[in-house]
Amino acid sequence: MPEERIARNIALHIAAGDGNITKCETLLNDDEDGTNGADAWWEDESHLRWNALHFAVSGGHSDIVKLLLRRGGIWNAIDELGFTPADYAWSLNNDEIYWILFEEGVRQTLVLNLLDRKALAQSASRDPGANGATAKDGEGEKGVQVGENGESSTLKLQVTESSGEVSAQNDRFLESRLTFVKDGEGKMRCMDKDGGLVMAAWETDVMQKTATLLCTDQQTGQPITGLKILNVGFGLGIVDEFFQQYKPSKHVIVEAHPDAIAFARQNGWHEKPGVELIHAKWEDALDQLANGELFDVIYWDTYAQGYGELRDFFEEVPYLLDESNPNARFSFFHGLAGTNRFLYDIYTRVSELDLREMGLDTQWYDIRPSTTSETWNGILRKYWDLDVLRIPISKRIQDVE
Ligand SMILES: C[S@@+](CC[C@H](N)C(=O)[O-])C[C@H]1O[C@@H](n2cnc3c(N)ncnc32)[C@H](O)[C@@H]1O
Repeated sequence: MPEERIARNIALHIAAGDGNITKCETLLNDDEDGTNGADAWWEDESHLRWNALHFAVSGGHSDIVKLLLRRGGIWNAIDELGFTPADYAWSLNNDEIYWILFEEGVRQTLVLNLLDRKALAQSASRDPGANGATAKDGEGEKGVQVGENGESSTLKLQVTESSGEVSAQNDRFLESRLTFVKDGEGKMRCMDKDGGLVMAAWETDVMQKTATLLCTDQQTGQPITGLKILNVGFGLGIVDEFFQQYKPSKHVIVEAHPDAIAFARQNGWHEKPGVELIHAKWEDALDQLANGELFDVIYWDTYAQGYGELRDFFEEVPYLLDESNPNARFSFFHGLAGTNRFLYDIYTRVSELDLREMGLDTQWYDIRPSTTSETWNGILRKYWDLDVLRIPISKRIQDVE
């Protein structure tokens, strides 16, 4: 970039930090002599890779934050320390700016998800043989859509370092080997071939609370027995153990990985009461599922799939939940962007809005899972680093007479 342009971009950073909105506008606009305006997205390598939004946030100037967002400022740009502008707003207790950035993030994520789906639909119609809906680059492990530096891959179409790993692509993951081993505390974990953590004991509390929320009468707090339950993704079978405690009349488990199926069979899951173990990708099992008796409880927790696939599953939920039961419930493991609080908030809201579009109303229940340094010992990458995990419980929106 030419020096004059860099100087202009730095001048924008200074004006944004000082709260001088008139100067920011002048610098952003093209000059009368044709000189281009400053770049709202530009990152200063010599200053923590901050962009103009980071400076505006650090000065607490909400008007300039709004201006920069209108003029191409990148709401989720990560600096050298891994922080977005919203992370600074949060640490400075600036709620107003945090929510401005949040609303912008939700808006852009919804628009980009929509564009992504349109592009997939078009590519599918051009080449019906292509497996466009699942073959996506750059998605990280366990539903995390955040790349190495924390950027959301739905938002920036870039290939992250993780794209060479099997967790970046569901079909490759399903063709690679899994290992079921004990960690340093003697607890079972399931790992993919690159050392990615597919499932581990730290999630046990989350699975237990989810099963309780799904299988308990919300009025009386009494457990409900005899439910028809569908679980997608067996892993270590932790959530299924909890489901079994409610003595379901039907307990269907859809699992795509041959090694996870073998592990389930070794542990006698194919013989447990009410259990039907289906070895298939959920995408391929849908017809079979929807043609049978429908479900009171549905849970979704897969691996090597991102928000796009989760949203595809949302679309199926209304067809799988038993319509005759107004209390039929759906939940999923919400680990989306589980290493960045702000992006986690964005995905919480985006998934809630997408579920609403499917006619489902969602309540969130908080849990503080406990992890130790042993949890991530020998693991390729942490996929969870926040205090509070949110468990969604979605039900059909009831018609008001
Ligand atoms: C995180 S684990 C599930 C953990 C489980 N909730 C538990 O409590 O142990 C994810 C599982 O989803 C499976 N999986 C991945 N892609 C799938 C797909 N397309 N359809 C069905 N299962 C899939 C993986 O093989 C893995 O066993």
